Amino acid sequence: MPGEVQRGLEDVVALESRICFIDGQQGRLIYRGFDIRELAAGSTFEEVSYLLWYGRLPTRTELAGLRQRLEALRSVPEALSRELEALPVSANPMDVLRTAVSALAVFEPEETAPGPSSIGGAQRLTAALPTILGEFQRRRAHLPPLEPRPNLSHAAYLVYALLDREPSELEARAIDVALILHADHELNASTFAARVTASTLSDLYSAITSAIGTLKGPLHGGANERVMEMLEEIGSVDRVEEVVKGKLARHERIMGFGHRVYKVEDPRATILRGWARRLGEAKADLRYSELLERVVQVVHREKGLYPNLDLYSGAVYALMGIPRDLFTPVFAASRVVGWTAHVLEEYDDLRLIRPTSSYVGPTDLSYVPLGERG
Ligand code: SDX
Repeated sequence: MPGEVQRGLEDVVALESRICFIDGQQGRLIYRGFDIRELAAGSTFEEVSYLLWYGRLPTRTELAGLRQRLEALRSVPEALSRELEALPVSANPMDVLRTAVSALAVFEPEETAPGPSSIGGAQRLTAALPTILGEFQRRRAHLPPLEPRPNLSHAAYLVYALLDREPSELEARAIDVALILHADHELNASTFAARVTASTLSDLYSAITSAIGTLKGPLHGGANERVMEMLEEIGSVDRVEEVVKGKLARHERIMGFGHRVYKVEDPRATILRGWARRLGEAKADLRYSELLERVVQVVHREKGLYPNLDLYSGAVYALMGIPRDLFTPVFAASRVVGWTAHVLEEYDDLRLIRPTSSYVGPTDLSYVPLGERG
């Protein structure tokens, strides 16, 4: 007899992993044994990528080697650039990203063999996503085409690719921390989608295509853009109570709040709140921080819900001038590291992921030929 249905697979333990641990009761996030707060305070996105892929912190030489590899892998084939140019500038950037990863697999088939060699494809995709987003953004913003810019960190290159300017030191650190915080999060929906795809021995690029399509949803990665839409709708601190209570009265979800695992504040939200305020102070623009502070008070009082990382990531990106519809793609540009780390772990300990369902339909109907059905 099948077991009891756990809708949304809530609390179902689907597999063992060594990559990421979340303590939802204590609000702790651990990457390969290291607390996210220590990594956010002292590490870099490249170092955290190495940690997630290889399971340990790199030596100085190993980290330098990864930096060089990622820099060397930033450019994309001319054929892909032409594909991107064929896409309308009105396209959803997550659709552009998903299309580009699929196309890249066609243009670079050698990178797609499932197995340990997929680390090459993992680093290739991680390096190329900022370029893909940058080429699309520059075309629709009438910015000059993207030229290679050596000696920029991954985070700084992402800003340069999107905005045609180098970030300030504060901005570079803020985006680097945001990338660290978004890099992995255990078996979230998009990572699970990637592992399901990999568990059939399909290729890495197909797994990442599955993941991008999954992250796009507003209940997952798409929430950060909708938080900013809500702040725009609210407009001023004195309207927070009215707008938020109105949404709750209509049983609407307040984007950026709640979490399937965290029963207290998402530790990533705590860290990003600080960066949103630092950037706001540096730019003499605290409107997001002030609005969000009031929203948090009202939502917690009315629903007992806590912020998740999507509540503050949009404020960090908006303060840097990153267009709103690129917020979720920036999430993807970071999470591609976690997705690929999980795909590699799946290949290493492969088991086809195939749950079952509890069938509740009829089982004894008789077939009636079309001619007799009227
Ligand atoms: C991410 O899984 C991950 O790790 C994801 C992520 C990652 O790094 O990969 O952390 C990234 O996706 C963060 C979440 C971003 N999404 C949002 O902010 C969208 C708004 N949040 C909700 O939709 C919701 O909280 C979820 C989807 C995140 C979690 O929902 P669950 O666990 O399925 O909880 P639920 O829908 O069963 O809600 C339980 C109750 C319900 O109330 P009742 O109907 O029982 O009275 O809480 C309420 C919900 O209505 N509720 C909310 C709410 N979240 C839950 N009510 C209003 N606003 C919300 N945001």
